[in-house]
Amino acid sequence: MTPIQETIINKKTTNSPIWLMRQAGRYLPEFREIRKLNTNFINLCLNENLSSKITLQPLKRFDLDAAIIFSDILMVPYGLNQEVKFEKNFGPKLGSLELKSISKVDEIDFIEKLYPVYKSIKKVSEDSLIKNKNLIGFVGAPWTLLVYMINKCSPKKELIKDFFKDEFLINRILIILEKFLKLHIDQQIKNGATVIQIFDSWAGLLKEKDLPNYVYIPTLNLVDYVKSLNIPVICFPRGIKNYKNYCDIVKPDAINIDYDIDPVSICKEIKIPVQGGLDPKILLTDKENLKKETLKYLNIFKDHPYIFNLGHGVLPKTNPDMVEYLVKTVKDY
Ligand code: CP3
Repeated sequence: MTPIQETIINKKTTNSPIWLMRQAGRYLPEFREIRKLNTNFINLCLNENLSSKITLQPLKRFDLDAAIIFSDILMVPYGLNQEVKFEKNFGPKLGSLELKSISKVDEIDFIEKLYPVYKSIKKVSEDSLIKNKNLIGFVGAPWTLLVYMINKCSPKKELIKDFFKDEFLINRILIILEKFLKLHIDQQIKNGATVIQIFDSWAGLLKEKDLPNYVYIPTLNLVDYVKSLNIPVICFPRGIKNYKNYCDIVKPDAINIDYDIDPVSICKEIKIPVQGGLDPKILLTDKENLKKETLKYLNIFKDHPYIFNLGHGVLPKTNPDMVEYLVKTVKDY
């Protein structure tokens, strides 16, 4: 078993494994070099030679326990024929949402459009660098994808005023997303993904009363699906606040926490394996502080199955030396 499987499946509490969200990205000069020549982000994700190479870049440098495939949660709306673009210093921009056109997409069209993503996973899974490590496949949760598909860009702090106006549209999109997210998960696993992470980055935008409809039920359907394929599933409902309720209802195999939640109360309340928590901004400070904050998480979770990770992705301004120091601190613990 890999270290991550030992933690999630066997509930091992010693030697926390480590990987980092956005471990392949702009903080690495070798990534920036490729990115400079490939200005279209979607096309880069669809270039299986480059995306597999980028996926493995952090594993060449650091003693990490997993690779996460270099792709994006918005590849699914792209596969459903909604236009998706990434603009420099702005982030994602989506085109108009045409229910008629999305409803016409069938499984073959979708797989054909995203085929390079699956081929890239296959390539990484066959590389010697991934031996005794996990290859993490991922999807955006239906709610977070719905937010992007309707909002057309990152919502920052709140939803647009009449977000829920067209209930028919919302319910149709959620049904379509469930079908294609299952297909996307299935294809990633068939090609070599050994863990699935579900990113619900905008779970924190909802009121408590709306969580069952938009977060709990749609995510539970995906979690049950991944479990039926005998692959561990990690959920990251960023900003949810009540992680305990979420875990009781959605029952993922492990839960990733954000940096706003108190890890001490999480450790007390939550029985399943935990992942993440450290604020990525700590990596922008100094080594002494990084060590202190890293040991804080390791000490809190010392008798709990714990996978070291951050409370959100590595920031572009991070010095790779700090990542190296973080990995060393975790491995030496
Ligand atoms: O974690 C990884 O390294 C795997 C690859 C990965 C990317 N995006 C690559 C990426 C993963 C797992 C994602 C998930 C993703 N994408 C999420 C969920 C996690 C989160 O961040 O909350 C979301 C909301 C997105 C949508 C998205 N993609 C945004 C908002 C942006 C722009 C903002 C930014 O950080 O640049 C992206 C672009 C993106 N996705 C980049 C990378 C490496 C940066 C692209 C670049 O080089 O300009």
